[in-house]
Amino acid sequence: MPTIFVELKERTYPIYLDEGESFPDVMADRFPDRRFALVTNSRLEELYGDLIEEWCDKLHAVKHIIPDGEQYKQLDTWKGILDTLLARRLDRRAVLVAFGGGVVGDIAGFAAATFMRGIDYVQVPTTLLAMVDSSVGGKTAVNHPMGKNLIGAFHQPRLVFIRTGFLTTLPDREYFAGYAEVFKNAFIGGPEMFAFIDKRHGELMAKDPNALKEAIDRSVRIKARIVSEDERESGNRALLNFGHTFAHALENNYKYTGILHGEAVHWGMACALDLACRSKLVPPSAVGRFESIRSKILRPELPSPPQPDDLYRAMFSDKKNLHGALRLVLPTEPGISSITEGIDEEAITATLKNVFTD
Ligand SMILES: NC(=O)c1ccc[n+]([C@@H]2O[C@H](COP(=O)([O-])OP(=O)(O)OC[C@H]3O[C@@H](n4cnc5c(N)ncnc54)[C@H](O)[C@@H]3O)[C@@H](O)[C@H]2O)c1
Repeated sequence: MPTIFVELKERTYPIYLDEGESFPDVMADRFPDRRFALVTNSRLEELYGDLIEEWCDKLHAVKHIIPDGEQYKQLDTWKGILDTLLARRLDRRAVLVAFGGGVVGDIAGFAAATFMRGIDYVQVPTTLLAMVDSSVGGKTAVNHPMGKNLIGAFHQPRLVFIRTGFLTTLPDREYFAGYAEVFKNAFIGGPEMFAFIDKRHGELMAKDPNALKEAIDRSVRIKARIVSEDERESGNRALLNFGHTFAHALENNYKYTGILHGEAVHWGMACALDLACRSKLVPPSAVGRFESIRSKILRPELPSPPQPDDLYRAMFSDKKNLHGALRLVLPTEPGISSITEGIDEEAITATLKNVFTD
């Protein structure tokens, strides 16, 4: 039985994390007499074709496979899903299953949000990033040539089904990128999460299954709590963007090629911590504990050395900034950060120089 819930009154939903029940049993139980469609991508079909077949057989589900890659997170692919649902005569009682990483989850979620003005859907995340971040919280979207995630909707899933075993096939690079969204919780998820990451970082780097399951459990609970408190990101949900303003500037700097989002988030966390210490937001009593965590932040290889001035300019194009003012999530105490405005240019450029040229 699940013990984690995203509390949203009548839309409250459970997160199954390595519970004993099989996926088809959970679905049949929660959605009796419904028709199902499962969306996945070509890579997952290669890796988990037998399992997908078994689930589709048991649920009599229609299967729709999209090509693998962020470049396919766009309107044509979304339309392809709707075409299949219509051709197979699914109706507004249909339930969509998104089986994959954040790309499949976002696009299938958006198809569910828009098909027949919105149908139920379920997330089965298969990457670390999707397990701890994108599958929970109801943000669905596709990209537009003008930018990422510009077309989308808030549409919460009806349940999230996490099997950590899927991570055994995930490439290292994807794993370490997803780990950024776990590590981030050390700064926003409270003192216990800070201590957990500080202590178990080595095991998480080595993909120790017990440490990993605990990290996912803790991360999902943190995200579930924040989403429950602020579903539409009008307040504290913005804390989840810790390190992300710097990260988006970095991704933008490389035109989204040669760097994964999570890799950029590792660098962004290093910047946020440097800036908070430089701006004296961290009290002297906490500096030592932040030093310990600072030494653990990954510094993934970058396509080329970035220019701090370019990054500073790019930080202003982030869509989460209000009216051109930089809003940064910066740490204050171990496990606690706050949304900060008014940090001056000098401090930010000093941080960028320090982090990227040292
Ligand atoms: N909705 C949200 O709240 C939210 C939050 C963060 C990110 N996102 C979105 O998520 C997307 C990134 O998601 P991602 O990092 O999961 O990338 P992804 O979905 O592209 O997956 C990364 C790669 O791993 C492969 N893969 C997936 N599961 C696998 C497995 N178990 N074994 C082997 N290979 C596997 C995929 O096919 C892909 O090639 C971006 O589009 C981003 O905008 C959304």
